[in-house]
Amino acid sequence: MKLIILLIVAYLLGALPSGIWVGKLFFNKDITKLGSGNMGTTNTFRELGKTAGAVVMILDILKGTIATLLPAFFNISHVSPIIFGLFAVLGHTFSVFAHFKGGKAVATSAGMLLAIHPILFLCAFAFEIIFTYLTSMVSLASMISFPLITILILMDGDYWLGLIGIILTVFIFVRHRSNITRIKNGNENLVPFGLVYKR
Ligand code: G3P
Repeated sequence: MKLIILLIVAYLLGALPSGIWVGKLFFNKDITKLGSGNMGTTNTFRELGKTAGAVVMILDILKGTIATLLPAFFNISHVSPIIFGLFAVLGHTFSVFAHFKGGKAVATSAGMLLAIHPILFLCAFAFEIIFTYLTSMVSLASMISFPLITILILMDGDYWLGLIGIILTVFIFVRHRSNITRIKNGNENLVPFGLVYKR
């Protein structure tokens, strides 16, 4: 029973729609009606500014981190913490508080990685910044960073986490279908950062 309640808590944590709340509370705007319509860090950053984007990023990362640490807080050792992180990722992408819509799984998955492997989290963060700088597209940076991190995990010999990395990479590509179409058509939304964005 404790396990099921904690998995539900992990899902609900992930489901907290931080982008929607930041938009409504501080800007009186509905982020789902702006830009790409995504409620994640990138769209918030583009539409509502750097500070709002940073707040949403931190909150979305923390959702994954806290959910992944739940079993440690509550002495559950027979279920992998990764499962709790995955419930948060599911909550984030199919949020009960947002008509089962949600983000694209990037920040919350990264938060899970922060709880499990902080060094790899820092690598993922560095990849994300570098590829965003090179392309001015967070979507493309995410789709490059996730496979790269998964390769690093597999090279490290952690095949269980590597399998999760493969599953999350596929999931992230599926969640970025509209971005992939825009990238192919040359009209992906750029962030005001990096080499490609022109002021
Ligand atoms: O994490 C989401 C990001 O990769 C893309 O967001 O708003 O450009 O679709 P967006």
